[in-house]
Amino acid sequence: MAILDESTPLGAAIARDNQRAARLSRATFPKPDSTRIFTVANQKGGVGKTTTAVNLAAALAKHGLEVLVIDSDPQGNASTALDIDHSTEVPSIYDVIIDDMDIADTIAYCPEFETLAVVPATIDLAGAEIELVSRVAREQRLSVALDAYLQKREEEGSRVDYVFIDCPPSLGLLTVNAFVAANEVLIPIQCEYYALEGLSQLLSNIQLIQKHLNPALELSTILLTMYDSRTNLSSQVAEDVRAHFPKQVLNTSIPRSVRISEAPSFAQTVIAYEPSSSGALSYREAAQEIAQRGVKHSE
Ligand SMILES: Nc1ncnc2c1ncn2[C@@H]1O[C@H](COP(=O)(O)OP(=O)(O)O)[C@@H](O)[C@H]1O
Ligand SMILES: [Mg+2]
Repeated sequence: MAILDESTPLGAAIARDNQRAARLSRATFPKPDSTRIFTVANQKGGVGKTTTAVNLAAALAKHGLEVLVIDSDPQGNASTALDIDHSTEVPSIYDVIIDDMDIADTIAYCPEFETLAVVPATIDLAGAEIELVSRVAREQRLSVALDAYLQKREEEGSRVDYVFIDCPPSLGLLTVNAFVAANEVLIPIQCEYYALEGLSQLLSNIQLIQKHLNPALELSTILLTMYDSRTNLSSQVAEDVRAHFPKQVLNTSIPRSVRISEAPSFAQTVIAYEPSSSGALSYREAAQEIAQRGVKHSE
């Protein structure tokens, strides 16, 4: 084996990643006291919601935790990334929200991780936003179904540790259902110029949900994504966000990474596809931070 020349930038970066990987391989991820349910939301598209939901889920499952991903975006990107069939005939989140199907009857398991369960989304979900409008308790439909499923898993002795609900890029009824079903909100923020635009609308929506529909909801976590350490802009955005949300922003930010963006084309998370790449290491470190932070931040 060639001896790594740590005096070069590349050699130093590789040495650093090796140390991170070694640290993570020794790490234990504590089980939470009760199931933590995250809604991954941001009404902007392309900020890393799906990437964050599937990779945090995979990172936690890799360490043996019981995880559920609910794909609540008609595009079904989370289903694709986790290699779950989401053609129209497959039972999906649409059947749960619109036709009262039990979540248990829609679950498929990610082939890479035996403790990672998935509720897929099919293109049918595109109509759900309109169909929900006339339904009774239209904001609570996911919450009711999820509570029943989580209780069943608990009774079976396989309590779910983490749930991640991947939202569409809008603040419509699907996202409202996710906010009502969750106890924590995770906002991925892309480190670019318009990052903070629209954030105040998202925050006021969360406040409305807290006031009227789900007082237990908390904005617990913000993750900076697509961080590019070479640009001043990325560090400026990161600094701004950290100044506004000192408690919520994770110390780990996710770098812009080719491995992260190509993993879904192999129907894989980057955690399975290239576990020692710097993108995978960052998602694993972010997952570890989330696991260690626990549920509540005392204000
Ligand atoms: N850290 C990253 N580095 C490089 N590409 C990324 C990264 N995170 C996400 N992407 C890519 O950016 C695009 C948008 O990400 P995605 O997670 O689908 O966003 P959203 O769900 O918010 O629409 C996808 O093509 C994804 O592969
Ligand atoms: Mg998405």
